[in-house]
Amino acid sequence: MTATLQLKTAPVTEITTDILISFFYSEQFTAEHDVLTQIKQLTTLDVTELAKDEKFEAKAGQTLLLRGLAGFPTQRVLLVGLGASDDATVATTLDAAAQAAREARGTKATTASIALPSDDAAVVEAIATGLNLGAYQYTTYMTSKEDSYKGIKSIDLLTTEALKDTLSRAQILSEAVALTRDVVNMPPQDLYPESFAQEAIKVAEAHGLEHTIFDDHTLEEKGFNLLMAVGKGSDKKPRLIHLTYTPDNGEFHHTIAFVGKGVTFDTGGNNIKTGSYMYHMHSDMAGGGAVLGAAKAIGALKPAGVKIHFLIAAAENSVSGNAMRPNDIYRGYGDKTVEIGNTDAEGRLCLADALAYAEELGSETIIDLATLTGACVVALGDYTSGMFTDSDELYADLQASIAQSGEDFWRLPLHKKLDKQLDSQVADMKNIGGSSGGAITAALFLKRWVTIPRWAHFDIAAPAYFDSPKGTMAAGGTGFGVTTLVNLAETIGKQK
Ligand code: BES
Ligand code: MN
Ligand code: ZN
Repeated sequence: MTATLQLKTAPVTEITTDILISFFYSEQFTAEHDVLTQIKQLTTLDVTELAKDEKFEAKAGQTLLLRGLAGFPTQRVLLVGLGASDDATVATTLDAAAQAAREARGTKATTASIALPSDDAAVVEAIATGLNLGAYQYTTYMTSKEDSYKGIKSIDLLTTEALKDTLSRAQILSEAVALTRDVVNMPPQDLYPESFAQEAIKVAEAHGLEHTIFDDHTLEEKGFNLLMAVGKGSDKKPRLIHLTYTPDNGEFHHTIAFVGKGVTFDTGGNNIKTGSYMYHMHSDMAGGGAVLGAAKAIGALKPAGVKIHFLIAAAENSVSGNAMRPNDIYRGYGDKTVEIGNTDAEGRLCLADALAYAEELGSETIIDLATLTGACVVALGDYTSGMFTDSDELYADLQASIAQSGEDFWRLPLHKKLDKQLDSQVADMKNIGGSSGGAITAALFLKRWVTIPRWAHFDIAAPAYFDSPKGTMAAGGTGFGVTTLVNLAETIGKQK
């Protein structure tokens, strides 16, 4: 659940919410600042003096909570630092706003007014989105959720009418990211390929997207044998989920595919994972979850100039007498054979079929997202997604999208010399590439199923899910990838 963002043109003195949250760049934090002046006038509290005592300097993410200000229109005031405006980025602004929402949560406020540091649309979008996402909590399975506090329900941003569209965009983006978090957080007995498809159909119907679901019979008939192989050990059969966005006027100059790994639980299969490695593997569909979130946002924002296929390759990698085995050989949808070297390298199998299909649909740009390798987590740490592409042109589009989303990516090489590690003695390739360069060989495996130049692979194994709270993020699904995909669709749509 997300809060409702609304625009308010009232002055600070006329607000009636439970809390006022005021954002400052560090250079703005002086006695002359409007909010500080108002507090001093109405309550006689010298905030700048108090801030000195509390060592509050409006550094990025720093907060100072004032309570029980007699004479002030709100019971609580939260001062939030954004750091020096020269150093602030979309990422630091999102983080500070999310941090503020967390602090506000602690005060049990349900309505908030926001005093902004500027009326720059990008800044306001980041603050509004960050606040809304910081307030997110996944409480569906908590027994007492009905009567327990649910966080801030409405957020009034004190700004001008000119920012109306910015706020509605922030609302759409935060609801989309929240949907991704919700599906990632769902327990695996409730989110499995078929129910994932139902969630996708709901999104499609709400936003006028076309939807086609290939069930296990259709997948088998059409030769999606790698996706089917991954699901063989489970009673919950695979699905290929396909939503399509076409602009209302039917005009587009480019076709994009967003392809997500949708492994609703990854036991490892016969190469079974041990306890701590298996825990949280319900989040192994986070790439697919991001694709679904992007579909929701794009269905609402309706960017011009692009047709977009959203593909989610959904399967449960489970164990049973029927599960795929090492040494099995399957022919993929892209008409190449794969020897199974390790049943735990299942994500690339699902994606291989979906990538080949995305290409058949005429996609000119393909982005896949997958919680693909532990090696990528080892390489880049907890916050960063690996990004692989051979196209510098697509890389430039991605850079522009990432600058806007503030998400954390690092480009890694599709090193040609490593490709032979995937050669098999008995089939066209095998699904593991040896002990070194695991994130790269996984990406090279995917590359074998794509021929168009504008393809990129995001290995989101690290940032898609936090198993413990990190910074401003609660534990659980993060919704990583959604905003970058939406920005990319808009970036490409505006070209030409
Ligand atoms: N889903 C995992 C990757 C993963 C690991 C995601 C940790 C999130 C956190 C993937 O299917 C997997 O098991 N990969 C193997 C590949 C190996 C068998 C070549 C891995 O990374 O160990
Ligand atoms: Mn696996
Ligand atoms: Zn996996």
